[in-house]
Amino acid sequence: MTAQELRRLYIDFFVSRNHKEIASASLIPENDPSVLFTTAGMHPLVPYLLGEKHPSGQRLVDHQKCLRTGDIDAVGDASHLTFFEMMGNWSLGDYFKKESITMSHEFLTQELGIPQDKISVTVFAGDESAERDEESADVWRSLGYPDERIYYFGKKENWWGPAGITGPCGPDTEIFFDTGKEKCSENCNPACSCGKYVEIWNNVFMQYNKDTDGNYTLLVQKNVDTGLGLERVLAIMNDAASVFDTELFVPIISKIEELTGVKYEESVYHQYRVVADHLRASTFILGDDKGIAPGNVDQGYVLRRLIRRAYRYLVQMEAPTGTLSQIAQVIIDHYKDVYPELGRNEKFIIDNLDKEDALFGKTLAKGLKIATKFMDAVGEDKVLKPEDAFMLYDTYGFPLEFTQELAEEKGIAVDAAGFNKLFEAHQEKSRQGAAQKFKGGLADNSEETTKLHTATHLLNAALRKVLGDDVYQRGSNITPDRLRFDFSFDRKMTPEEIAEVEQIVNDVITAGIDVVCEEMSPEEAKAQGAIGVFTDKYGELVKVYTVGDYTKEICGGPHAGNTADLGSFKIQKESSSSSGVRRIKAVIGK
Ligand code: ALA
Repeated sequence: MTAQELRRLYIDFFVSRNHKEIASASLIPENDPSVLFTTAGMHPLVPYLLGEKHPSGQRLVDHQKCLRTGDIDAVGDASHLTFFEMMGNWSLGDYFKKESITMSHEFLTQELGIPQDKISVTVFAGDESAERDEESADVWRSLGYPDERIYYFGKKENWWGPAGITGPCGPDTEIFFDTGKEKCSENCNPACSCGKYVEIWNNVFMQYNKDTDGNYTLLVQKNVDTGLGLERVLAIMNDAASVFDTELFVPIISKIEELTGVKYEESVYHQYRVVADHLRASTFILGDDKGIAPGNVDQGYVLRRLIRRAYRYLVQMEAPTGTLSQIAQVIIDHYKDVYPELGRNEKFIIDNLDKEDALFGKTLAKGLKIATKFMDAVGEDKVLKPEDAFMLYDTYGFPLEFTQELAEEKGIAVDAAGFNKLFEAHQEKSRQGAAQKFKGGLADNSEETTKLHTATHLLNAALRKVLGDDVYQRGSNITPDRLRFDFSFDRKMTPEEIAEVEQIVNDVITAGIDVVCEEMSPEEAKAQGAIGVFTDKYGELVKVYTVGDYTKEICGGPHAGNTADLGSFKIQKESSSSSGVRRIKAVIGK
């Protein structure tokens, strides 16, 4: 079975059960600062899980590009990836546990023909925020799953969400494929990471909203949010030993073999798989229409780390320079029919990888010099100071094992415990920073973020009026305090242009125009001159928000009711975001 066959089987199955297919959204969340990347199919659907009406109805299905850095250390085993595709189906206040579990069971056993006795499931054991999920367990029993293959776990295993700090979440039931490996111990169960059980599907019963105080309250509707891992299921369907042995990775692995001359075998699985995974993730980040390039903050920084980690392993395998983009080319060629943005942004992907290749080539050499200096200076104990190892990590991107390898060659040890302490302190600091930074956001649908969302549309229109129609949105990020808007434009704006844009937006605010929402086909939206992301899914309806003659934009919402609600508009800063992309920070107020 090919990946495309699997995608279609899944979509068609749910379409035949009255779901509407929706397009994969961007890997970079729109207007939602609570996460850097789209980590699950539900992410673009948060407003609808909270109660907004979705133009395509209450039953949706798609395959969504996702990226999770949380599993980065597990990459190299048979099933973990940073970038992956999540197939998902949703009920927005429509069906609930029984129908959801039954459809999952039917898809796996009837459509895919997976033997039922290879499937184990887990359900929520219950705690103070929600009761034990006997309802789901009963559905599984009624479908013929014996008690020995129905496991109960607590929140850690069987509760999903919110994706950011706040938002929809709930107990889940997870479906595992038994690989047939021996149990690693008597207590081996689906929660064990030994590899016997592979999680393939998660059905979340999103009934709750978690607020900023950590309280769970009931949502206005009961939703179902599911996610089925495409790469993992593809491996199962093809009896492949790992996700890396599927058609999605074999061409990448072959290319790495060709470029390095190192044979792909167990002793180098780790390096190979990290390179293949990280470059696939990097290609998809660069290939997103948002124009994210390697940098030192936010998505750009994650991208840079992925690229550099891959690069380092390639250097270890003695790959020549220019290799990154050659591997990316294989990935682009493989995926561009399904994800046409990779084709559209091919040059951007290749150019940025070549740039990073040249840049890190230099940093790496510098880092190696500093490492030698540090190592020559160790005392009689022949142990490298943890501060030095951490400096090599932090400044030159050397992971601990890389430094350890270098040290070993000189008969020097590294204080790993000391390093880990510094590393954890650093992680904690950045986690707190991130938590601070990403507090709130559109996920909470607060009044402030909603108004800023409307301000973003007005700004977009004003920029196009003042700077020309070549200006288009490259990214947007809203916190309760300000909006941030990235757009294509290749020079600094003049103070006059900034003043003019502000004036236009303030005029529309003063005019007190209603913000009108209509649902229509993408063709109709296009004919009416709406801007925004068009999808090419036949039959899908989109929401179009219109402010008088002033702006018409395809968007999920929600928005302010009237422009007067915004009060006033001020641009605080206009700066460069990346090559050819400018960034504006603006606020609204009295
Ligand atoms: N949102 C759920 C997950 O990511 C389906 O597992």
